[in-house]
Amino acid sequence: MRKKVTIVGAGNVGASTALMTAQSGLADVVLIDIAEGVPQGKALDIAQACPLWGSAVSLKGTNSYSDTADSDIVVITAGFPRKPNMSRDDLLHANAEVVKTASASIAGTSPHSIIIVVTNPMDAMAQLSWKTTEFSCKRVMGMGGILDAARFRAFLAWELEVSPADIETTILGGHGDQMVPLPRFTTVKGIPVSEVMKQKRIDTLIQRTRNGGAEIVGLLKSGSAYYAPAAATFQMIRSILLDEKRLLPCAAYLNGEYGVKDLYVGVPVVLGKDGVERVVEIKLTKEEKSRFRESCVAVKKLVKKLAI
Ligand code: 2OP
Repeated sequence: MRKKVTIVGAGNVGASTALMTAQSGLADVVLIDIAEGVPQGKALDIAQACPLWGSAVSLKGTNSYSDTADSDIVVITAGFPRKPNMSRDDLLHANAEVVKTASASIAGTSPHSIIIVVTNPMDAMAQLSWKTTEFSCKRVMGMGGILDAARFRAFLAWELEVSPADIETTILGGHGDQMVPLPRFTTVKGIPVSEVMKQKRIDTLIQRTRNGGAEIVGLLKSGSAYYAPAAATFQMIRSILLDEKRLLPCAAYLNGEYGVKDLYVGVPVVLGKDGVERVVEIKLTKEEKSRFRESCVAVKKLVKKLAI
């Protein structure tokens, strides 16, 4: 039997994730939203593209959680996007209600699923989803670091005029303004980036990465980025469905790792059929540690405001 992936929220991130999942042929897709007609219309549209991709998966758009029953993976994208001059953190209270309601429904209808939270502020929303579902922390995670790393990789590739496929990097911390890109773990086909680019230029691209989501919000005026967020989410879906065990930066529950307790925040993890199969700890310099700690403090403040 084919796997089943539910996507909560039929906005641009949700629909793009549905499209990429359907195109891959890896799983049947259910798109759910409270807006009547929207998930149905978008699912039908994507279903009609499947013959062109040679994909045999089924798609369903719905307003009812009963159609999502027994999903293998549920992606939560529902919520309000930010407007220009808003930070991701400004969405906290508006989106908490949405994520809480969705998580409670998922716990009832898909008790064995793996949840990927995309809704912002993502790290705090992942923690809220985990608390609400009472799932094992291995089965609840957030998408942020892969997207931030992809942005950094793109900026470096354009500047160095090499394929982004040859750029590797990792990012720590919350998916917010205090994310921690790690130039020390950034390479161009194995060559440390510091060998091929001046530090000042690296710093500029790091700043552009931190501002990567806001740059797009500023251009779009209404709504935020969706193609790259969906592609990053799909990379997680794929790693789980195919048990690829990719090593990817995701928001995961830390219970002592990196000296952090009881907090969802971005770290490198191994993603496989069981979800977050392992948190990978890397030895950080004093400065990296202190930046990571600052980022954790920012996430913790949000979680405190949720009073969960
Ligand atoms: C972004 O960084 C949507 O948080 C997402 O664009």
